[in-house]
This record gives sequence, C-alpha cells and structure tokens, in this order.
Amino acid sequence: MFTGKIYSGWMEDSQGEKIKEILKNVRPQKRVLDIGCGPGFLENFISDSFMVDTDLENLKKAKGEGNKVLADGSHLPFKDKSFKTIFCIDTIHLLDTEKIKEEIKRVLRGGTAVITAFCNEYNKSEKMSKLREPFEDFNIEREFFAGKREMDAVIVVRNN
Ligand SMILES: C[S@@+](CC[C@H](N)C(=O)[O-])C[C@H]1O[C@@H](n2cnc3c(N)ncnc32)[C@H](O)[C@@H]1O
Repeated sequence: MFTGKIYSGWMEDSQGEKIKEILKNVRPQKRVLDIGCGPGFLENFISDSFMVDTDLENLKKAKGEGNKVLADGSHLPFKDKSFKTIFCIDTIHLLDTEKIKEEIKRVLRGGTAVITAFCNEYNKSEKMSKLREPFEDFNIEREFFAGKREMDAVIVVRNN
C-alpha cells in the first residue's frame, strides 16, 4: 500500500534529486532565504538558511533549530537587502506573484533569486514562459530544467 510514510519518502527523494541539480547550477551565498521551505528538503543540502513557511507542521519537520519563521512569503518580516540568495522552490503558484516579486526585490542584496515551478515534458516551455513573466524587470541570468521523476522549470534572476 502507498502509505503516507512511503509518499513522504518518495517526495523527499524526488525533491532531493531536483535540488541537487539546482545546486550544481547555483552556489548559494549567505544569508540565504528559503520561501515556502516545506519540510526543509533544501536544508538537507545547505545550512543556516532562513526558512519561511505558513505551515507550522512543515517548519517543525525542517532540519535545524534556528531561523524558522512562520510567515507569509508575500509579506516577508525582514529588513531591506537582508539576503544574498533567495530560493522559492515549487511555491510561486501559491503566492501573489506581484507581491512576492516586490518582496524579493526588496530583501535581495545584490545577489540572486532562484524560482522554480513544477512542469512536465509536455508543458515545460509554457511553464518556463509563465515563470519568467513576472520577473521581466530583473536580469534573468539562467534558465534550465531540473529533475527526472519530478521536473521543474528554474529561473535564476538578479535585481537590476
Ligand atoms: C509544494 S510545497 C514546496 C516545499 C519545498 N519548497 C520543496 O522544495 O519541496 C509549498 C510550500 O509552500 C508553503 N506555502 C503556501 N503558501 C505560502 C505562503 N503564502 N507563504 C509561505 N509559504 C507558503 C506550503 O505550506 C508548503 O510548505
């Protein structure tokens, strides 16, 4: 039977594959913010990030004691220019894109933001265009696809 435990193990593995591939293309610089961190799959690979999520249970599951913040990614409780690298992995579809774009712009300090969205073999180019759209006033440094079992369109943007 495909139980919750097997599902979460499968999720962790498939997200892990994707995240490893993303990290081959992006070297995070501190301080790092993870918007919509979920149960902290990214934090299996990097340390000392600031983890933001609206789900307390997910935050509890995430590794590391410090830097867990229960907050809405569209209203980040951080000062301007607080972060060098921001990740928003598979979460943008749950946020108000205009607000999150403004928040990323505000809290980024001359570094990059990595934003991803689920896609598959059939809709990948359409998903990539949709992901790019709200970030037109940033410099798009890279775009690529990551993952096999679960695929993401990934953009790496820098504040102008
Ligand atoms: C699909 S999961 C992605 C989790 C993780 N980033 C990963 O790589 O698997 C989306 C996460 O976004 C969180 N979330 C939903 N709405 C949010 C919001 N407004 N602000 C911050 N996090 C939010 C959910 O609780 C969930 O943990």
